[in-house]
Amino acid sequence: MTDCKKLHEAFGDYFSIGAAVNSKTIHTQCDLLSHHFNSITAENEMKFERLHPREHHYTFEHADRLISFAKEHEMEVRGHTLVWHNQTSKWVFEREDGNVVDRQTLLKRMQSHIETVLKRYKGQIYAWDVVNEVVSDKDEEMLRPSKWLDIVGEDFISKAFEYAHSADPNALLFYNDYNEFVPKKREKIYSMVKSLKENGTPIHGIGLQAHWNLEYPTLDLIRQGLERYASLGLQLHITELDVSVFDHDDRRTDLVEPTEALMEMQANRYEMFFNIFKEYSDVITSVTFWGAADDYTWLNDFPVRGRRNWPFPFDSNHQPKKSYWKLLDVARS
Ligand code: G3I
Repeated sequence: MTDCKKLHEAFGDYFSIGAAVNSKTIHTQCDLLSHHFNSITAENEMKFERLHPREHHYTFEHADRLISFAKEHEMEVRGHTLVWHNQTSKWVFEREDGNVVDRQTLLKRMQSHIETVLKRYKGQIYAWDVVNEVVSDKDEEMLRPSKWLDIVGEDFISKAFEYAHSADPNALLFYNDYNEFVPKKREKIYSMVKSLKENGTPIHGIGLQAHWNLEYPTLDLIRQGLERYASLGLQLHITELDVSVFDHDDRRTDLVEPTEALMEMQANRYEMFFNIFKEYSDVITSVTFWGAADDYTWLNDFPVRGRRNWPFPFDSNHQPKKSYWKLLDVARS
């Protein structure tokens, strides 16, 4: 594995190559990560509930370790994520008596969280997913219902960016979402970011998660989406790329090993994706996988708990798969 061409060097002229890591995988996948990747994102360790489980009480130990890992291996770090409806401690939205907090208190808590975290990692985390997944998947709804939205109102989004910018003016600030190429959702993300930008909100990029599979999205959808997002004049990061061997609605549990045919299809998908990313490399400045090798993926628990998946260019023994070799071909072509 470590004697083959480094992925991040192969794509060095185009974008950085990242992996989501956690406190375990920086050990179990250390050689693979340090060889092929020059960027990391914390899979869970920098989320609100992990860093700030109680008011005025921060737990930075695990996040700090990931930062040291990145330093040791000369990697850049993307920060994930500051304001999200998920993995945010209950206390944030509650008063001591258990009732819901008021807008001012919640904004203060948001600001103090963002300030503390960004100031601590100033100069060490170059880009942050400031706001994550606030656009609704439902056609009739613009924003996803959440406590942030309920209590603060729509401007919780712009406030988060403002707080982040004043805490670390050099950090690149991103809005990050999934189903980013579904046309109706794409248009909502596009218009939300457009109006943030027009209103002077300090936003520098859009994170396209790219949790994809062998069928979805079509290349046409990707191209249309990239055109649309690129027209906003912001950077684009591919933030959470993986290619599931199951379609979205497939709940089968009888596949215990990936077949050659599936791995071939996956390699073809990776080839097509990276060809497009290369075409758009003037706006796509980073491509991060949501993991690194098939021995660990969040997809093993989603959408069917315990079902295996094999979404990466490296297998469970960290050996290159067909996908890896196709990626090298793309980089060289
Ligand atoms: O840490 C606890 C452990 O103590 C407990 O025993 C175990 C029991 O289930 O749960 C562990 O926490 C899990 C955590 O991952 C760490 O493994 C949570 O249940 C589980 O929900 C959590 O899942 C994470 C998920 O975000 C939460 O929404 C995944 O690891 C993580 O990959 C995933 O990442 C998200 C991005 O942040 C945003 N975009 C989508 C992406 C995939 O869902």
